[in-house]
Amino acid sequence: MADRSRLIVVSNRLPVTLTGGEEEGWRLEPGSGGLVTALAPVLSHRGGLWIGWPGQAVEPGGDWEAVLHEGFREQGYDLAPVLLSEEEVDGFYYGFSNSVLWPLFHDLATACDFNPSFWYAYLGVNRKFAAAVVERSAAGDFVWVQDYQLIHAAEQVRERGADRRLGFFLHIPFPPPDIFQRLPWRGQVLAALLAYDLIGFQTLRDLRNFLACADRWLPDVEVGEENGGVATLAIGDRELAAGAFPIGIDYRAFHATATSEDTRRRMNELRVRLGNRRIVLGVDRLDYTKGLPERLLAFEKALERHPGLREEVVLVQLVVPSRENVPEYRELKSRLDELVGRINGRYSTAGWAPVHYLYRSLPRQDLVALYRLARVGFVTSLKDGMNLVAKEFCACQSDDDPGALVLSEFAGAAAQLADGALVVNPHHVEETADVLAGALELPVDERRRRSEAMRRVIAEQDIFWWVERFLGVALGDGAEMLETLRDYVPRLDTADSWAAV
Ligand code: ADP
Ligand code: G6P
Repeated sequence: MADRSRLIVVSNRLPVTLTGGEEEGWRLEPGSGGLVTALAPVLSHRGGLWIGWPGQAVEPGGDWEAVLHEGFREQGYDLAPVLLSEEEVDGFYYGFSNSVLWPLFHDLATACDFNPSFWYAYLGVNRKFAAAVVERSAAGDFVWVQDYQLIHAAEQVRERGADRRLGFFLHIPFPPPDIFQRLPWRGQVLAALLAYDLIGFQTLRDLRNFLACADRWLPDVEVGEENGGVATLAIGDRELAAGAFPIGIDYRAFHATATSEDTRRRMNELRVRLGNRRIVLGVDRLDYTKGLPERLLAFEKALERHPGLREEVVLVQLVVPSRENVPEYRELKSRLDELVGRINGRYSTAGWAPVHYLYRSLPRQDLVALYRLARVGFVTSLKDGMNLVAKEFCACQSDDDPGALVLSEFAGAAAQLADGALVVNPHHVEETADVLAGALELPVDERRRRSEAMRRVIAEQDIFWWVERFLGVALGDGAEMLETLRDYVPRLDTADSWAAV
């Protein structure tokens, strides 16, 4: 295979996280978040290499190495860990990535901590990732860098004189110029993106925001017209492209699991445990962008304004812990505990609690069973790159009795699912409460029509469509290379790809 081009995915995190320690023993846990859910099946199907941080500050040569490599032997692709010290994790990950870029790009500039030491830590760690890319890849490979933590990786690869095809995909929104302007390092960040051959965004709005920023702060760059969701940028005699590529899910794998006998059994158990009530389901990483307090407030308001829902419905809210060292995340956790306590204290009766709140990650089977069991999927992001939960929920619905999706207009998914979803502004709590109550009463014909419209889009524009489209644009003049990337490893049965996360 040495003469074949490989797909090299580079992201801050590997698809698995090391937990435990040298003394108690290391374990592997699936990584959380949409990036890992989306890309794990891609690499399982195509093969290649995933470069990333294993999620713990570890030293080379520890027992963790065997655990990591053993856990990955049969996934059909390789892993290359990038090791970060605790100091690097603090400055680069908790600092610049999650206290500057994450809030800023989600329109929450007031939550940013523009500490210059974070910026230097970010550059240092991006340099480290670039060194790993140069070491682990060859000239013909396609290196695909993922997300906001690694914007500067390509620039650093080029500085090392390495000749690589480099693509970048931003999983989170790109802010409009008046928000982006606040970033003290705005020029450097924009210029670093130009080192890629193709820059991908989730939606047309994100692409246009980026083009507007480039036009404003990079005077030497000529920004071309956007055509079919793709625009070219020219700087001197160098050309690159930027485009909108809405990310998808492994639809067939979700659908296959949702229709399996095991899932049906799990659904029956859960149905009985939840008292045969209609279920409203929320599934999120703990994050202030997800509109979790707004969701709980809207549910509370629905119980207040529509007394017929009391004792008839339950809100099952799953929250997977995330970024617990960032103060805003800890505060959010306390706020949720308080709100759940208040709603349950106010409305519970003997044998019924309105909110079932689970603060942990669930196994796939349970998650899928809940998706399929739910009458309403409830997504209230205040700002979200895509929101794969919305797509997963739709993919798991039955043909005859599907659930309805209440979806925030601020999630990237709204651009694709507006025909079928009940779209809300989550800041408008009363309206969201009424839409939720309406969704719970939606006649089955209406639910079927809406669900089919959404599933058609999600099935067509799935994660493999996304990869083909991105690589197609990136390697448009390199059809031969695209073929070798496509053939590198035969596609596995899609249902197997879940083993990868
Ligand atoms: P983000 O990437 O911001 O976390 P997404 O909605 O795009 O948001 O992706 C979240 C991913 O995390 C989905 O694939 C979802 O299935 C998964 N997930 C979220 N909460 C849980 C949970 N409690 N248990 C298991 N998986 C979860
Ligand atoms: C979102 C981001 C990812 C990130 C994930 C989990 O999906 O777009 O880049 O990996 O959240 O967050 P974490 O900070 O745990 O990596």
